Amino acid sequence: MNRQDPEQLSSPPDGRPEAEQPRWRRDFPIDWPQDDYVTRRDFTKFMVLVSLAFAVGQVWILAQNFLRQRRGELPLQEIARLDELPVGGARVFTYPEAHNPRLLVRLGDRSFVAYDQLCTHLSCPVIPQVEAGHLHCPCHEGLFDLVTGQPLAGPPPRPLPRVKLEIRGDKIYAAGVEEALA
Ligand code: FES
Repeated sequence: MNRQDPEQLSSPPDGRPEAEQPRWRRDFPIDWPQDDYVTRRDFTKFMVLVSLAFAVGQVWILAQNFLRQRRGELPLQEIARLDELPVGGARVFTYPEAHNPRLLVRLGDRSFVAYDQLCTHLSCPVIPQVEAGHLHCPCHEGLFDLVTGQPLAGPPPRPLPRVKLEIRGDKIYAAGVEEALA
């Protein structure tokens, strides 16, 4: 763009040189080339700040996940009330994230177990067979012990990860996950 083009360049109304113009006039220039330059500069500044904020946010999330995993900490989450589940009853819940399906089973008056609902073979959902004392995986006839989560039969190679439970008053809470040791 030609800075001398009279269509593209105007003079400050007070006639003083550009360097002596007030700050506001430099931020809102009166000739088009400078105006374009300020706009590009502000846009670049904005993009750099947004990218920086995004990168810092990602690092912060990664650091939080890393620390949480190292401490083995997961949030306490209410999953049922005692009177909602009869002895022998079961319910599916998610913990700690919506994509982690778990299975809560009531074994006795104040006795509960909870496991990852996905079979350790190929991740089919397991089904409680409370009277038989098993968790059954229908995909390849896998069987897990209901009390310990250990594999009893079929191809599952590892126990089901167990959800730690706490009973407070009349409520049951998930309080962490014990990763299964083979
Ligand atoms: S997926 Fe459960 S036994 Fe194969």
